[in-house]
Amino acid sequence: MGKLLANVFYEPSTRTSCSFNAAMLRLGGQVIQVKASTSSVKKGETLQDTIRSLECYTDVTVLRHPEKSSVARVSAHCENPILNAGDGAGEHPTQALLDAYTIYRERSAMPEGLTITMVGDLKFGRTVHSLARLLTMFPNNNYQFISPGELAMPEYVTAVLDAAGVTYTSASELSEEVLGTSDVIYVTRIQKERFECQETYERLKGCYCVTPEVMAKAKADCVLMHPLPRVGEISEEVDSDPRAAYFRQMKNGMYIRMALIALVTGSN
Ligand code: NCD
Repeated sequence: MGKLLANVFYEPSTRTSCSFNAAMLRLGGQVIQVKASTSSVKKGETLQDTIRSLECYTDVTVLRHPEKSSVARVSAHCENPILNAGDGAGEHPTQALLDAYTIYRERSAMPEGLTITMVGDLKFGRTVHSLARLLTMFPNNNYQFISPGELAMPEYVTAVLDAAGVTYTSASELSEEVLGTSDVIYVTRIQKERFECQETYERLKGCYCVTPEVMAKAKADCVLMHPLPRVGEISEEVDSDPRAAYFRQMKNGMYIRMALIALVTGSN
C-alpha cells in the first residue's frame, strides 16, 4: 500500500495504539508514532499546528487526546483523514465499531433486538457513549444502564436515544433481573484519571465486580464484553467462561481498524 500513518497519542494506550499500528503494518503501510511527551507539544505548540505539520509527511492521522471534542475541532483544519482514537470523556468511535462487530461475531447475527447492559463508569467512559449511539442504527435494541448515581450516562447520549425512540432503564445495582435479561453485558472501568476529586474515585472504585457467581445469573448465551484495561471489574476466573468475549473483542479491533484505514486512504 505504501502509505504512512501518523499515530498521535496524548493519553496512555496499549490496545488502541498498538492495534492501529498493527493494522497499518498488516496492510503494508508504515507508521510514525508521536507521543505528546516527546513532541513539540512540550514547547507549547497547539494541537492544530502539530496535526497539520504531521499531515505534511503522512497520509492518515490517528489521534487520541484528553479533551472532549478536540478531534472534531482539529478535523476542521485537516486535509488528511483523521480517525478519533478517543477524545477525553467524549467519544471512542473506532472502539464502538469493533464492539458492534464483536456482538455480530459472537452472536452470528446483526446487533438488533438485543438487551444491552452497560455497567460501570457511564459518565466518563467514552466507549459506552459511542457504542450506545452506534447501536441506535440497528432496530429494536434496548439498554440497561447500571452505574452509581454520580456516574450515570450523560444527557447528550440519552437525548440521542430518546430521539431514536430507543428505550432504556437506569439503576445502580447489577441485579439478578438485570443479569437474567441481558444479551450483552458491557463492563467498563471507573475512569480514575477523569475525577476531579480522588476521594470520590476511591469511594466508587470497585463498585462492580463480575465473578463466576455473577455470571451464573446471566443468560447462557450472553456476551460479556470489556474494552480493557480492567482494574478489577471482571475477575480473572471469568476468563475461561466461553461467554467472556473481551480478548476476542480486542483482536477484532485490529481487523476493524485495518478496514477503516483501507477505507479512508482509498486503499480498499
Ligand atoms: C478504553 C479507552 O481508552 O477509552 N480503552 C480502549 O481504548 N481499549 C477504555 C478505558 O480506558 O477504560
